[in-house]
Amino acid sequence: MKKILLILLMVPLLLSAQSETLSDTSLVKKMQWFKDAKLGIFIHWGIYAVNGIGESWSFYNGQISHNDYLKQTKGFTAANYHPGQWADLIKESGARYAVITSKHHDGFALWDTKYGNLNVIKKTPAKRDVLTPFIDSLRKDGLKAGLYFSLIDWSYKDYPKLTRDSLRYKISDDPKRWQKFLKYYQGQLLELATRYNPDLWWFDGDWEHSADEWEIIKVRKMLLDVNPDVIFNSRLRGHGDYATPEIGTPVHRPETPYWELCMTSNDSWGYQPQDTSYKTPQEVLDIFIDCISKGGNLLLDIGPKADGTIPEQQVHILKELGKWNSKHKEAVYGTLPGIPYDYFYGPTALSADSTVLYVYVRDILKDNQIVLKGISGKIKNIRLVGSNSPLRHKILTKVSWNNYPGLLYINIPKNSIDPYYTVVAIEFDGKIRLYHNH
Ligand code: GLC
Repeated sequence: MKKILLILLMVPLLLSAQSETLSDTSLVKKMQWFKDAKLGIFIHWGIYAVNGIGESWSFYNGQISHNDYLKQTKGFTAANYHPGQWADLIKESGARYAVITSKHHDGFALWDTKYGNLNVIKKTPAKRDVLTPFIDSLRKDGLKAGLYFSLIDWSYKDYPKLTRDSLRYKISDDPKRWQKFLKYYQGQLLELATRYNPDLWWFDGDWEHSADEWEIIKVRKMLLDVNPDVIFNSRLRGHGDYATPEIGTPVHRPETPYWELCMTSNDSWGYQPQDTSYKTPQEVLDIFIDCISKGGNLLLDIGPKADGTIPEQQVHILKELGKWNSKHKEAVYGTLPGIPYDYFYGPTALSADSTVLYVYVRDILKDNQIVLKGISGKIKNIRLVGSNSPLRHKILTKVSWNNYPGLLYINIPKNSIDPYYTVVAIEFDGKIRLYHNH
């Protein structure tokens, strides 16, 4: 709740940070792949998967002692970890990028860092850098690579907070000690930047300190010096490139042109075997299509087990998503947000040149028709996405003495209905035109 509140409080901040740079053509250019990608896969992999408990928050909130939490390092084996298969599955899902937790709030690092000791090589039986082969595999599969990095590091000896109720020190009492922490975390970041050259930074945990305390401006510059095209999410005290709503699907179309909804596939970010409340592929697609129709991305989370196995329910969701995405590619990637609900009672999107309207149909009316109204543009063709078979249509309530376009009924034959969403493409002989008169 507190987290949600904080994120909500940040929204105006982050929107203003974006609009400052909106006219900046280099921003538009660097954001293009992200805007076109629509689907990313989020991966929360860490020692919390060993006991199957809440990532970092479980010790912070006192459900387990910090000592016992850290003992999970002993069970992080990565014995069945096949990074190539992870990347292939992500590709199969239709995602165009992935974001992996290089380090969560617990401070456990998945790579061979020379800063601190809490990492996969020094502390776990896996004894190897597990990040490098995954990033390499993503790139081999032509996918973009994002790194999640928590600014908060509750385990580090020079970080002020340890748990909700215990503070190591106050920055104002010991600024030198805070400087040590800054060196440590910024050192890690530079290490990650130079080693992996990520396409995207997914920061988290900014709420515990101010932008000045974190030295956000300096950090941004340091990372942009390594890669001027790198993209930042918003959890940098508003100094990001795109908005980062969490779990809450936006009800209204966000005003910002760049946003990404991060979402769990059950109710947990990391692997928690007792959490079986998985969303069905249909429900995930409901959320995904809602994002597409409102011009955003979905970053769908999976939580692999400590041995590197991806739970079968998550594999199932990704594979089903993949089937739908590969059939409906043209109505997914590179699309623009759709038309207002006044014209169609459901989600829609437009082709990049706005000459094709994609209508996503979840539930077909009993007479197998859908209806749109106020569509003024001249229709060239109406077809089913996937098979391209033409669809019959008729126009009702059109009269000759004004230019009201009438109601457009489109017939969708029963045998062509998709198990999840059937997509109708309406092609116009120019950009779509909507009727605006009363
Ligand atoms: C939150 C949580 C964290 C999770 C993240 C994903 O900020 O602190 O546990 O990793 O959101 O969006």
